[in-house]
Amino acid sequence: MNEKNLKIRCGTIADAETLAPLAIRIFNDAFAANPLNKPEDMHSYVSEAFSVEQTRRELADADTLFFIAEIGGAMIGYAKLQERTTEECVADKNPIELSRLYVLQEFHGQGIAGELMNECFRTATEKNYETMWLGVWEHNLRAQKFYEKLGFGKVGNHVFQLGSDAQIDWVMEKKL
Ligand SMILES: CC(C)(COP(=O)(O)OP(=O)(O)OC[C@H]1O[C@@H](n2cnc3c(N)ncnc32)[C@H](O)[C@@H]1OP(=O)(O)O)[C@@H](O)C(=O)NCCC(=O)NCCS
Repeated sequence: MNEKNLKIRCGTIADAETLAPLAIRIFNDAFAANPLNKPEDMHSYVSEAFSVEQTRRELADADTLFFIAEIGGAMIGYAKLQERTTEECVADKNPIELSRLYVLQEFHGQGIAGELMNECFRTATEKNYETMWLGVWEHNLRAQKFYEKLGFGKVGNHVFQLGSDAQIDWVMEKKL
């Protein structure tokens, strides 16, 4: 594992130009080949959600926290925490959301995602949150398995809009 060279730091507005294309690459690698996802829906989602402008807005948002994983100075993944969002099926009325966790495919299975999650748990606990929740596509078995390994459990579903396609996400939560 590349643990020795791995650096995790907070994201800043200066990261937008690098982060946006990284997010697009990871999203496409993970989901474009799935026949359930139409290319036009993928394109529509990616061009809005991961534009440089949108990424810059999120990096500037006081309720959004980014953690960036780098090896040898190159960005290889990131996690994003969102404050003040919740879902009805989440019992705790003041939870924190893990709204993105993306690692480049060639670094999967090396503990990088786990290190990003440790940073998320540490920060959430410092901010006195007692619950973390997330949405994960019902067909994203690898991510579900990963979250279950970390102690997340399914508490419901919500809709995730991929372009024109209303997809079902599992809502999962973990007590911190
Ligand atoms: C989700 C993600 C961050 C997890 O990081 P990772 O390094 O792949 O995670 P790990 O390898 O530690 O854990 C994945 C687990 O799923 C298992 N797995 C792999 N493919 C699987 C599959 N098709 N079905 C079920 N489990 C699978 C792995 O064996 C592993 O479990 P194990 O440690 O018990 O062997 C990473 O895969 C990723 O960035 N994916 C693309 C973006 C994404 O889907 N993000 C999450 C959106 S909610």
